[in-house]
Amino acid sequence: MIRHDIILETQALQKRFAGRKPFFGEAKVVRAVDGINLKVRRGETLAIVGESGCGKSTLARLLVRLMPPSDGTVVYEGRNIANIAPEEMRHLRRDLQFIFQDPFSSLNPRMTIGALIEEPLRVHKFGTKQDRRVKVAEMLARVGLPASVIDRYPHEFSGGQRQRIGIARALITGPKVVIGDEPVSALDVSIQAQVINILQDLKDDLGLTLVIIAHDLAVVRHMADRVAVMYLGEIVEQGPVADLFANPKHPYTAALIAAIPVAEIGARHAATKLEGDPPNPIDLPTGCRFHPRCQHATQICQTNRPALDGTGPDRWAACHHANTLSLQGYIGSGHSRSPTTQARFDLYRAASAVLPPQDQKTTT
Ligand SMILES: Nc1ncnc2c1ncn2[C@@H]1O[C@H](COP(=O)(O)OP(=O)(O)OP(=O)(O)O)[C@@H](O)[C@H]1O
Ligand code: SF4
Ligand SMILES: [Mg+2]
Repeated sequence: MIRHDIILETQALQKRFAGRKPFFGEAKVVRAVDGINLKVRRGETLAIVGESGCGKSTLARLLVRLMPPSDGTVVYEGRNIANIAPEEMRHLRRDLQFIFQDPFSSLNPRMTIGALIEEPLRVHKFGTKQDRRVKVAEMLARVGLPASVIDRYPHEFSGGQRQRIGIARALITGPKVVIGDEPVSALDVSIQAQVINILQDLKDDLGLTLVIIAHDLAVVRHMADRVAVMYLGEIVEQGPVADLFANPKHPYTAALIAAIPVAEIGARHAATKLEGDPPNPIDLPTGCRFHPRCQHATQICQTNRPALDGTGPDRWAACHHANTLSLQGYIGSGHSRSPTTQARFDLYRAASAVLPPQDQKTTT
């Protein structure tokens, strides 16, 4: 069996929130992350996918200790950071960074771009003012922004440019692990590809480990090495991206793949459809949490919770029938993209080095 170098690992990780209190009775508990065991391998891009509300952002924040877990451990480089003291975490913060979905809300509108990108270096007492300026200029160039932006303010930039600023700020400390919580989903499709390509190039150049939360499975297929599929606070399937897309073992994964627009992946529609109520992490179904929506459910699914078991080389699924179901993935070959997706990314890779003039601020 191949031994992977694990940089970040969770064990039985849980995050519970107090739900809204009803008029009568007690407030119920929201089990946003419910017993997750996850290993992130050094240097990989791991995508976490799943419907809205399944706990992706909560897991992302727990991974870099932006919030403490209710239970379980988060081990970074052999050290449990789940309940680490704030001062110790401040030191580790330079290694573990976060890219937010909406860069505008995470950028202080009263700070210039130069000050915003420099700030993490000042916090970590990096070098002299001159050293920091050199680093900021280098980072701006890497994300395709000219040095002249340093005296400008966030509101002067488009969404795509602001996300480049957010990436520069996250990467300036030389982190080892970067978590992107839907880093491109608020952007126009064309700008998405630019920002994704920047992230990919930086990952390769700087040897980063990336964990990407994404809704767009075409983006996931383009970027990720491995995928973890979440449903109601749990990981229900995990595996290498091409294998998992081509040959899903969990009906929920198959339904997510079936929902990808055909043009994006060159696939036929799969028979599996995602129907029924959206997930509610307050009233969790018994047995397999997916059973009320699963067209393959049997008696055991209603009562017994399936474990995340191995289904093949580097493949895991939490389904009682994973080894007997024949589910449809996409029709395509290996890791290659459809011509449409390939063209989209090639086009914007070429464009990504070119900054739109600052006076051509777009609405993206
Ligand atoms: N601070 C909080 N207090 C109470 N409940 C919360 C809190 N943060 C998240 N939740 C709940 O936890 C569940 C998981 O939320 P989370 O934001 O992690 O989901 P998500 O998968 O990121 O969704 P989306 O795709 O919409 O961003 C949701 O039911 C959400 O309402
Ligand atoms: S365990 Fe049963 S209900 Fe759950 S995904 Fe598998 S077949 Fe469907
Ligand atoms: Mg989220």
